[in-house]
Amino acid sequence: DIEKEQSKARIKQLLKERNAVLVAHYYTDPEIQALAEETGGCVSDSLEMARFGRDHSAKTLIVAGVKFMGETSKILSPEKTVLMPTLDATCSLDIGCPIETFSEFCDAHPDHTVVVYANTSAAVKARADWVVTSSIALEIVEHLDSEGKKIIWGPDRHLGSYIAKETGAEMLMWQGECIVHDEFKAKALTELKKLHPTAAVLVHPESPASVVELADAVGSTSQLIKAAQTMDNDKFIVATDRGIFYKMQQAAPNKVLIEAPTGGNGATCKSCAHCPWMAMNGLKAIESSLEIDAQQHHEIFVDENLRLDALKPLDRMLNFAK
Ligand code: 13P
Ligand code: SF4
Repeated sequence: DIEKEQSKARIKQLLKERNAVLVAHYYTDPEIQALAEETGGCVSDSLEMARFGRDHSAKTLIVAGVKFMGETSKILSPEKTVLMPTLDATCSLDIGCPIETFSEFCDAHPDHTVVVYANTSAAVKARADWVVTSSIALEIVEHLDSEGKKIIWGPDRHLGSYIAKETGAEMLMWQGECIVHDEFKAKALTELKKLHPTAAVLVHPESPASVVELADAVGSTSQLIKAAQTMDNDKFIVATDRGIFYKMQQAAPNKVLIEAPTGGNGATCKSCAHCPWMAMNGLKAIESSLEIDAQQHHEIFVDENLRLDALKPLDRMLNFAK
């Protein structure tokens, strides 16, 4: 509609004027992902978002995603202005892992290496030895395990259990979860598989173990898109945020993509399988974030001492991933 087109035009103008680039996650709405692509920004998983923002020559980054993604960008690029469409877009994993109690947990096991998921606050990252995203978590834990390290893992218990099972590593687990992936249901998925016998099941490892067990491929958002592109199946049942369908369908245009069930009866529901915080990244919010008058409501700041402490485990991950 006209209002949306006007908003897109204004965003494009402001991106140019402010030497800014839009960095979006696969879970944002399709029109936001399309705009990021159209304007020379990027659409990717959380690891690639961090890398793209760090390496881009723009003065300003607009991070369309959730708060930890904006913070990660600021930690990696302190010289850049990092803006977010809304500072209220958080993540249940971040909320469920407050620094005080997490720090006590770590203090109680000083002989353990602390590995935290990227979906955490800057303070929790600063307490960690390693930060990982879902696309690199398995390899990093495998590496640490091969060195005989005992591991504290936080905050996603499902991702942690999956990694512990795959690697055999000894891991003490924080008990957090993603409210979106936690809703996928194994029983209903088994029923849905019967209706689509040729379909492969693609699962993000933030899903419960019973759902991961039914998967033909388990991986981060970018790894699931790759799987849809490269596997021979004509259909895929996908257990992750439905925002991923935009890029997945582009990558696999002839394949049928089906949402994994979040309800108990095999039905999908409209309010499920979509992160409420990712959904806050609308066109109007992006436009507002770029208006200089409104900058104070959109800018990400990280205390410099905290930033330097959080940078170490983040750099460790980025150097490992090279
Ligand atoms: P990815 O690193 O796979 O993009 O996941 C980020 C996320 O928040 C998943 O819910
Ligand atoms: Fe956090 Fe889950 Fe939303 Fe990802 S989908 S940002 S893990 S709440």
